[in-house]
Amino acid sequence: MANLDHLITEAQADFAACDTTTALEDAKAKYLGKTGLLTDALKGLGKLSAEARPAAGAAINVVKKGVETALNARRDAILNAAQAEQLASESLDVTLPARAQSKGGLHPVSLTLQRIEQLFHSVGFDVATGPEIETDFYNFTALNIPENHPARAMHDTFYVDDAHVLRTHTSPVQVHYMENALKQNKTPPLKIIAPGRVYRVDSDATHSPMFHQVEGLWVDKDISFANLKGVVQDFLQRFFESDDLVVRFRPSFFPFTEPSAEMDMSWNGGWLEIGGCGMVHPEVFKHVNIDSEQYQGFAFGLGVERLAMLRYGVNDLRHFFNNDLRFLSQFSK
Ligand code: FA5
Repeated sequence: MANLDHLITEAQADFAACDTTTALEDAKAKYLGKTGLLTDALKGLGKLSAEARPAAGAAINVVKKGVETALNARRDAILNAAQAEQLASESLDVTLPARAQSKGGLHPVSLTLQRIEQLFHSVGFDVATGPEIETDFYNFTALNIPENHPARAMHDTFYVDDAHVLRTHTSPVQVHYMENALKQNKTPPLKIIAPGRVYRVDSDATHSPMFHQVEGLWVDKDISFANLKGVVQDFLQRFFESDDLVVRFRPSFFPFTEPSAEMDMSWNGGWLEIGGCGMVHPEVFKHVNIDSEQYQGFAFGLGVERLAMLRYGVNDLRHFFNNDLRFLSQFSK
């Protein structure tokens, strides 16, 4: 029987040329398959004499083992290489710098509201809130605003239905607060600010359909217009950090205050309107069962965006609501 030892080196060379386990299984067939060289040799043993058969069989088995060892070694090598490649592709480079975390900041209107609340809080004003969807009664009637007043017109106010509106000012909170205070047997002094969102059919560089107001209300015995002037002037001087700032009160009309005034502040050599104010009208006190012979009060309503525009030097109110990060990020610390 021919010497088959050379098959081991041939098989090693064939297996080494295989890069995948599928190719390797194909190469294996040449030696160990059903019609492979070694299978054929084993089948040929039957033709040998009984004496020659054991030695020839042992020699074939040595070669078969050698081929199998070469096959297993190559299979392990291929699998190890594939695993190493996968690990390399999935590996993390822990030395890379971390991805930066983007940190949010407070909106300039929120910063302004915070500052307003702090300043009024420091002189004894509590913060009150009220609903943004308001009944016609609280938004208008209880504030002595007559049926035919232009503010009630559809083109000025967002109506939710016949009896409800998106509140057009924060003044209804005056009424809610005084009503609730009396229900809880709390008598004046009542001293609050009421910051919040309000809505009007309005839109240009200085008017937005949604904006913020802060209402002020101080009810007590012997409250006068002089107290109103003192509180507002002191607030604005502290808000703008300027002792020279002057506030001007221009006679005006609001149905829920008497007398009423527009507040203007000195700015760049001129005057800028920042809100309305006045002494609480006896009709409003009547709606909440406060005796106007015994108590007086002042109220004011300031435009928060207008204060923010002046403080930060913003020339168009709409910047506050466009959500442009280039604008907003300038205010985060
Ligand atoms: C009022 O809303 C009264 N409720 C204020 C008041 C309260 C008077 C208490 C008396 C007693 P007026 O409509 O003027 O008033 O609005 C007050 C301020 O809100 C304005 O001076 C302005 O600063 C701001 N404002 C009004 N409309 C807009 C708008 N569309 N966009 C931004 N700010 C506005």
